Amino acid sequence: MALRNILPDSEPTLRKRSRAVTEFNPHLHELLDDMRETLLRANGVGLAAPQVGVLRRAAIVVDTNLEDKTVEEQIIELINPEIIASSGEQIGPEGCLSLPNVFGLVTRPDLVKIKAQDRNGEWFEVLGKDLTARAFCHEVDHLNGIIFTDIAERILTEEELEELQHGDDCDCDDCDGCDGCDDEDCDDEDCDEHEHVHEHEHEHTHDHNHDHTHDHDHHDHHDHDHHDHGHTHG
Ligand code: CO
Repeated sequence: MALRNILPDSEPTLRKRSRAVTEFNPHLHELLDDMRETLLRANGVGLAAPQVGVLRRAAIVVDTNLEDKTVEEQIIELINPEIIASSGEQIGPEGCLSLPNVFGLVTRPDLVKIKAQDRNGEWFEVLGKDLTARAFCHEVDHLNGIIFTDIAERILTEEELEELQHGDDCDCDDCDGCDGCDDEDCDDEDCDEHEHVHEHEHEHTHDHNHDHTHDHDHHDHHDHDHHDHGHTHG
């Protein structure tokens, strides 16, 4: 297995329609294994073959509803997937591994049924709900050359992004400094009365991209943050 580069959305490849997979051979298995490793490394919830430069109808999705399984076991491989049924509606933030730090409000069905082949060519059906339904749609879109920004109601502002990533109950590294506020005995060097709250917020906004990457260096990739907070990165 090997990591593959995830193409940025500026890459024309991502705008093309992928062709059906017809050979269920070791070459496909290697692609899927590499995509699994790449997705796990990036801590996303989905990845489509065109995102790693292969214009074939193959994608993988982490079914986050399978809570008792490891992330690796949650990965569903979808070859030549088709959406055969959908219902309900969810409007929420959606992101993509090809567009780090960009989120848009996208309307998707709540429940999506997919028909697809597995890596050996066997057809199966799978039902996804909530985030998984969103990811199914997002990945099938990739196979048709569509990126979520094409269909987003609007892109979230920097401020909204901050709030999304660091809500009230956020306990990520970036927000640890704030915890001192409520603690009378806090001797954190950042904790100077309550002033540091403002400093903290300021730093956050001012140097967002930098902080984001480096303050999460105990993770392999900054996208882990989004995953933790329950947002889609496909
Ligand atoms: Co994507």
